[in-house]
Amino acid sequence: MKKPFMLTMAAASLGGFALFSPTSASADDKVDFAKQILPIFEAKCMKCHETEHTDDTGRIKKPKSGLVMDTAEGLKKGGKEHKEKTLVAGKAADSALYTMTTLPITDEMVMPPEGKADPLTDAEKELLKKWIDQGADFGTWTKWEKKK
Ligand code: HEC
Repeated sequence: MKKPFMLTMAAASLGGFALFSPTSASADDKVDFAKQILPIFEAKCMKCHETEHTDDTGRIKKPKSGLVMDTAEGLKKGGKEHKEKTLVAGKAADSALYTMTTLPITDEMVMPPEGKADPLTDAEKELLKKWIDQGADFGTWTKWEKKK
């Protein structure tokens, strides 16, 4: 699988290069946080990174490692460990939010933790990377409303 990966990387770097030219960045090429990234977080991250709340059984649930992923504010603030290095707008490679999802599944720091939620697919990792590299723009989104 070496070749397709290299092709993906080449395509990704071309995409990044195009960003420097204001006229060439087409609107439909831009990742839409609410439509494309939030559903991934919702399915694979929120159960551990939701704002502190009381669950159905009355137990207080705190976001793991202080990382709140259901608000734009929380994502920008980051977790206790990586702080502002959790999400570095424009730099996925420096953002723990992305790099921790790309760790080997057996790594104790991989997100989501092994067996707790489905790992991100390659397409989802690529999308998350692209969104951060494009500047981690939340658009008008500020907060996730949990479906009851
Ligand atoms: C089953 C619970 C669980 C799920 C699901 C989960 N995490 Fe975590 N997360 C943790 C725990 C626990 C930690 C603290 C580090 C550790 O003990 O591994 C953590 C820490 C983190 C950190 C570091 C925070 C800091 O302090 O800097 C990031 C970034 C992160 N998670 C991102 C994610 C992302 C992105 C997803 C979804 C793709 C996700 N997590 C899903 C439990 C979870």
